[in-house]
Amino acid sequence: MACESSSVKPAFLLLLCFLLGTASAQLSSTFYSTSCPKALSTIKSGVSSAVSKEARMGASLLRLHFHDCFVNGCDASVLLDDTANFTGEKTAGPNSNSLRGFDVIDTIKSQLESACPGVVSCADLVAVAARDSVVALGGPSWTVPLGRRDSTTASLSAANSNIPAPTLSLSGLISAFSNKGFTAKEMVALSGSHTIGQARCTIFRTHLYNENNINATFATSLKANCPSSGGDNNLSPLDTTSPTSFDNAYFKNLQIQKGLLHSDQELFNGGSTDAQVNTYSSNSATFMTDFANAMVKMGNLSPLTGSSGQIRKNCRKVN
Ligand code: HEM
Repeated sequence: MACESSSVKPAFLLLLCFLLGTASAQLSSTFYSTSCPKALSTIKSGVSSAVSKEARMGASLLRLHFHDCFVNGCDASVLLDDTANFTGEKTAGPNSNSLRGFDVIDTIKSQLESACPGVVSCADLVAVAARDSVVALGGPSWTVPLGRRDSTTASLSAANSNIPAPTLSLSGLISAFSNKGFTAKEMVALSGSHTIGQARCTIFRTHLYNENNINATFATSLKANCPSSGGDNNLSPLDTTSPTSFDNAYFKNLQIQKGLLHSDQELFNGGSTDAQVNTYSSNSATFMTDFANAMVKMGNLSPLTGSSGQIRKNCRKVN
């Protein structure tokens, strides 16, 4: 609803949102300064050690934050296991057999619980881990506003409907992000996340075999690891040039039809976002700044604050 999707609200709408209890309350970068001064350093070292063991984990942790925030806000709902009362989000189409990093989050959360029991939310942990992951892979840094609390439920159906699919057209991508209050420009900047990480053959097979807007040499090399049938879980990098560096190579690839996903190549396919791709391709600093700002905005989607929700002790379970 409008309370969630618009960051600039007229006064009457602010009042209405407040009365409905969905006003986006203030987060603060100093939220844990006295209650858990080691929170940020604990998360940073946990992320660094995970990323040094496996660089892809940085990508997986970034995606975890996105899939949390786009489903009823950044409330760590994505981390909940299924219970008798609800089916969680882990088995949703976009997440199943795909989303990773839950064990890294568990490890860091147990360190946070030892240092300051019951203080640091799983939702803040995921938001900071996403930032630290981008930094660990050479990308921009930003200050993460904190004070999110954790949900006591999850929504399989919202996960299935709110996370954009790789089969979407440009207009479908624009509207999926506009539904969450983002401009097309912010959508392009956030898509630059695909400068790191991997995707499964099953996700890009149709783009590879049935679409024409893919570089022929690139397609041939992908086919070796992604047959027209079978090998569904075989992985290829989203950024063929530098898959473990957070840089602007993703946009340069799109300009030469080396986008891995159908949805990636939609951003540079003769449509309204071509110019933005050109800008980010030729100006890395602009991409980094716009990306960081859009990440802060994404992290502010409908947080639970005050006495809403809880601080989970175990990110997988409601207390
Ligand atoms: C624009 C719409 C988007 C679509 C359609 C999309 C779709 C996908 C798909 C299908 C995958 C591969 C999943 C698999 O093969 O199992 C993927 C991977 C990934 N996505 Fe997106 N995504 C989008 C936007 C974003 C955004 C906004 C972020 C972060 C802010 C993001 C971060 C990532 C990362 C880092 C990976 C690699 C994960 C890994 O290697 O574990 N994506 N995305």
